[in-house]
Amino acid sequence: MRVLLVGSGGREHALAWSISQSPLLTKFYAAPGNPGIAQLATCLAIAADDVAGLVQAATDYAIDLVVIGPEAPLALGLADRLAAVGIAAFGPNQAAAQLESSKAWSKQFMAKYAIPTAAYRVFHDFQEAWDYAQTRAFPLVIKASGLAAGKGAVIVQSPAEAEATLRAMLVEHHFGSAGTEVVIEDFLTGPEVTLLALVDGEDYLILPAAQDHKQVYDGDRGPNTGGMGVYSPVPAFTPELEQIVVQQILQPTLRGLINEGIHYSGVLYLGLILTEQGPRVIEYNARFGDPETQVVLPRLENDVLELLAACAFNQAGTVSVRVSKLAEQRLMVKPQACASVIMAAPGYPGDYPKGLPIDGLAAAEAAGCLVFQAGTKQENGQLVSNGGRILAVSALGDNLQQALERAYAGVAQVQIPGAHYRCDIGHKALGR
Ligand code: AMP
Ligand code: GLY
Repeated sequence: MRVLLVGSGGREHALAWSISQSPLLTKFYAAPGNPGIAQLATCLAIAADDVAGLVQAATDYAIDLVVIGPEAPLALGLADRLAAVGIAAFGPNQAAAQLESSKAWSKQFMAKYAIPTAAYRVFHDFQEAWDYAQTRAFPLVIKASGLAAGKGAVIVQSPAEAEATLRAMLVEHHFGSAGTEVVIEDFLTGPEVTLLALVDGEDYLILPAAQDHKQVYDGDRGPNTGGMGVYSPVPAFTPELEQIVVQQILQPTLRGLINEGIHYSGVLYLGLILTEQGPRVIEYNARFGDPETQVVLPRLENDVLELLAACAFNQAGTVSVRVSKLAEQRLMVKPQACASVIMAAPGYPGDYPKGLPIDGLAAAEAAGCLVFQAGTKQENGQLVSNGGRILAVSALGDNLQQALERAYAGVAQVQIPGAHYRCDIGHKALGR
């Protein structure tokens, strides 16, 4: 199978690591990739949001399956454009990707299909939004409706903060077009869990649950980031809760999509809060989580490429190596736990420098860790930083404690001047 992987982050490095182990793989390209991915695939200098360029490359290189990592090309309709030229894609079409690309759309979808989520209203006008906010209890959550790299949700503690945030989004356009429409929703309390499901229409395969750490500082303080660390499995997410999520959230979502005339193919990301009243959806994403992928994939025994291709089973494009359809695939999960710690550039999630030298990756790998590169590039033979989240250090262990010890031992081997990371990944699950 000839595969083109789209994206350049830690999630895509983890996908590349899994795909490269598949006996089905005959040729592996990535666009644009990163130095970590370049060790596994031939990287093409095409941006992840250059839809025309990606379709051209998929045609030129006779690609059987395009694996789409990030949300931007999904929202731009890359899967639709590939289908039009008969090339299969792992990743939903543009209509299905609205579950992520428009929070207003996804909230309306959840309301229509009675999928449990926080009470909300959608606004385009500052005064109307501000009038509504003043009638709600605080804290309150204000979200830019469009794509905002994980930074578009603001938890406000007071009316004054709400006013400032609404003004920033709806009047001063700090979030650009993503913030011209906002969702105001009630604040939910409880542990957060990410559940990823591989999906092809009504068929699904649930991957092991993971828990991300969105806030930048220890103790869940500071602004939200794309994710600072993650672990799997999640003890708080019991099999009983998973059953409830399947019945009340996953199955109604898939049936709702079909009812809307939308065929979903790819991975569906359920961002959940486990409230005392039961699990609630805080967000859908139309792609793998980053950094969730960096702990979920290392726990799988399966041929991951086979699973990804199975999600494209019913597409117009035919995957040249026929795999069994998703409903016939069986998931094999290692009993081991996996933990991952993100090393970020000084200043992230605010402004940060680039070009910081990165050393010690071989030592971290020799210590048994998987280092997934995210914001990195090669410069004159030296690996340097090129983004806010620079890399993820993942490790398996017999239990969560051991996985975390190993991941932090790996982090200690990596040298990046000024880089910061959270020291408390997984501590809640360890009962600390
Ligand atoms: P989102 O951009 O919707 O993924 O939200 C980012 C983060 O904000 C989530 O991972 C939660 O930690 C937090 N969050 C979002 N919505 C809510 C909510 N309704 N109640 C509590 N926390 C929330
Ligand atoms: N880790 C959060 C996300 O991928 O959206």
